[in-house]
Amino acid sequence: MSKYIIANGDKPAALKGKVKVQGSKNGALPLIAAAALTDREVVLNNCPDILDVENMLRIYASLGGNYERRGHEVRLKMEYMNSHEIASSLAGELRSSVFMLGAILSRAKKAAVAYPGGCDIGLRPIDLHLKAFREMGVRIRDRYGYIQCDASNTSAAEIDLDYPSVGATENIMMLAAGTKGTTTIKNAAGEPEIIALQEFINALGGSVSGAGSSVVRVKGTEDFGSATVDVDFDRIVAGTYMIAVAMCGGEVIFEGADGGQLTALISKLKAAGAEIDAGQKAIKIASDGLPRAVGSVETGAYPGFPTDLQAPFGALAAVSSGSTVIVENIFETRFKYLAELTKMGASVKVKDRVAVLTGTGRLTGASVKAMDLRGGAALMLAGLKAEGVTVIENGRHIMRGYEAPEEVLSALGASVTKV
Ligand code: EPZ
Repeated sequence: MSKYIIANGDKPAALKGKVKVQGSKNGALPLIAAAALTDREVVLNNCPDILDVENMLRIYASLGGNYERRGHEVRLKMEYMNSHEIASSLAGELRSSVFMLGAILSRAKKAAVAYPGGCDIGLRPIDLHLKAFREMGVRIRDRYGYIQCDASNTSAAEIDLDYPSVGATENIMMLAAGTKGTTTIKNAAGEPEIIALQEFINALGGSVSGAGSSVVRVKGTEDFGSATVDVDFDRIVAGTYMIAVAMCGGEVIFEGADGGQLTALISKLKAAGAEIDAGQKAIKIASDGLPRAVGSVETGAYPGFPTDLQAPFGALAAVSSGSTVIVENIFETRFKYLAELTKMGASVKVKDRVAVLTGTGRLTGASVKAMDLRGGAALMLAGLKAEGVTVIENGRHIMRGYEAPEEVLSALGASVTKV
């Protein structure tokens, strides 16, 4: 398994330069799923070259699709969907495989997938997905760890989500796209990737409206055409590296980043003392590398503070002057990285979904383990600030969502290698 090694001298390097922000993992995954709606060619530009995307493309191929990657351009075509089943080996690799259900049912009217099960950050139930499918007339047998769906007799419905689930919203949009009539999704998630999925389905010839608000309407379409779209920038990757600048000091411009998608983080980083100039096409952040504690941070649904930036922000809190209270409201076990941070000298108290970090002047390098994607990113940020050498085991977790972080950070002046 890959490792990342971060070797600072006794003074962490300030970060200086420009970053072209990679395409969004959570934007690309539903687009690959939605590409299965059509038998025509789809082109995704700015598609990040990361493990989760590669796994999703393998799932797409296992259903009968063909794809070709040329740099950040991915061409996909599924002339025939010759399978409606996602193998448990593939479903296990990637939780987001469950996002494929809606598209498969739209096209093949039946689907089978192994229960994706929990992952590193929590139980990750899919009850909201299945409840909505049943309300649309999908017959579901979920037993023996398998979910078998029959969508031969579905109809549009008015869905009221108990929680604005991103995945459930996306899955329902894709099933509704191929279901006669107009389906309404109330209490829908409002993340930018929901808007991107709406734009993509419409580019294919579908008819979706309201994405970005809490009510999304989808009018069923018989057949879909081809489309070429640009995957939006990854706001979580941009936010992760912005936190690195607030921790280590320096000045970095994030090209392609839309500050409007990161308002909650920007407000907290300004409170920590960073200077930020956020536009729609770029974000500039400068810092003296002496962050102040911000009091408290609570994760919430978009546009609230993103749960995916909770761990990276914890690394900042560990080196800020003062104490920070972090409340993780979305996932139940997203504090695993804190035990690893204490190996580097962080002062942490955790009770249930509340963590209190009291900044210590310096962290010291250590051998630590990435337990999940964003927790691994947090350890990388801590290593940038720590005195001495940090070795991060289980680097594969980080590679799921961050494209060549060792190259991005080294280009900014840090010393990061992957072995
Ligand atoms: C998406 O996960 C993202 N993944 C996650 O990013 C992100 O953290 C999450 O949205 C919240 O923003 C992708 O887009 C591939 P949810 P998803 O359904 O769709 C509960 C990362 O690090 N829930 O909005 O799984 C659930 O347990 C990943 O990039 C149910 O109870 O998130 C959680 O508490 C991690 N029943 C809450 O809703 C359901 O049927 C939010 O989940 C579905 C969800």
